[in-house]
Amino acid sequence: MLKLSAFLLLLVLINLSEQKIRITILYESLCPDSSKFINEQLAPCYDSIKDNVDIEFVPYGKATHKNTTAGFKFECQHGPRECELNIHHACGIKYASSDSQKVKFVNCMMREATENNGNNAVTTCTKQTGISFDNVSRCYSGKEGQTLHAGHGDRTETFAPSFIPTILFNNTFDQYNQDRALNNLCSLVNELCLREAYKQLTYYNCNNYCCNCIPYNYQYNYPYGYYYG
Ligand SMILES: *[C@@H]1O[C@H](CO)[C@@H](O)[C@H](O)[C@H]1NC(C)=O
Ligand SMILES: *[C@@H]1O[C@H](CO)[C@@H](O)[C@H](O)[C@H]1NC(C)=O
Ligand SMILES: *[C@@H]1O[C@H](CO)[C@@H](O)[C@H](O)[C@H]1NC(C)=O
Repeated sequence: MLKLSAFLLLLVLINLSEQKIRITILYESLCPDSSKFINEQLAPCYDSIKDNVDIEFVPYGKATHKNTTAGFKFECQHGPRECELNIHHACGIKYASSDSQKVKFVNCMMREATENNGNNAVTTCTKQTGISFDNVSRCYSGKEGQTLHAGHGDRTETFAPSFIPTILFNNTFDQYNQDRALNNLCSLVNELCLREAYKQLTYYNCNNYCCNCIPYNYQYNYPYGYYYG
C-alpha cells in the first residue's frame, strides 16, 4: 500500500514537472521595449523559473516579408540593420543547445545593441554563450537565416501583435498577463504555476515542487482566495 502511494505520488510529480508553461516572446532586435523586457525581466528571472517554462523567441516584430524569385525580401521597423540583427538572433537561437543558452545569447545581443550599436554583438555573444560562431555566420550568410526570419514572420503574423514585445503564455494573448510580464515576469509565472499546481495537487506540494521563485513574503502579496477559492 505504501509502495503504491509512493508510486502514485511519483507519477503525479513526473506529470507535473512536464507541464511546462510555454512563454513566447515576439520581439525585435532594435526595439528599446524589447531590450527592457529581456534585460530586466526575462534574463534576471530565468534561472528561478527555468524548470517550469519553455522559451520561444520570435525576433521579427513589425517587419514584413515577401517571397520573391530572388529570395525573401524583408523590411524591418528600425531599418535594414534590424533585419540583419534579427537574422543573427534567429541563427543564434537555432544553434543554441538549450533554452538557457538561448536566453543568455538573446540577452547579450540586446544589451550589445543598446550599448555598442551591435557591431561586435555576434562575436561577443557567441563567445560568451558557447554557441558556434561558424554555425551562426554560415546560417546568416545563406538561405537558412532568411528562411528562419520568414518563418518568424509567419509565426508573428498568426498573433497580429499590436505592441512589441508581446509575451504569450501557452500561445495565448491576455492583456493582464502581458502587463504583468512586462512589470514582474517572475511573479506572474509563479502565479500561473500556483494555479496550475492547485489544479493538480495541494498548495503544499506546489510550494515544494512546482514554483521555484515564490517570494518569501508571497502570502502578503497574493490573495489566497485567488488561487484556492
Ligand atoms: C500550459 O500548457 C501545458 C501543456 O499543455 C498545460 O499542462 C498547462 O496546464 C498550461 N498552463 C497554463 C498556465 O495555461
Ligand atoms: C518561395 O518561393 C520559391 C520560388 O520562388 C519557392 O520555391 C519556395 O518554396 C517559396 N517559399 C515559401 C516559404 O513559400
Ligand atoms: C554546428 O551545427 C551542427 C548542426 O546542428 C552541429 O552538429 C555542430 O555541433 C555545430 N558546431 C559547433 C561547433 O557547435
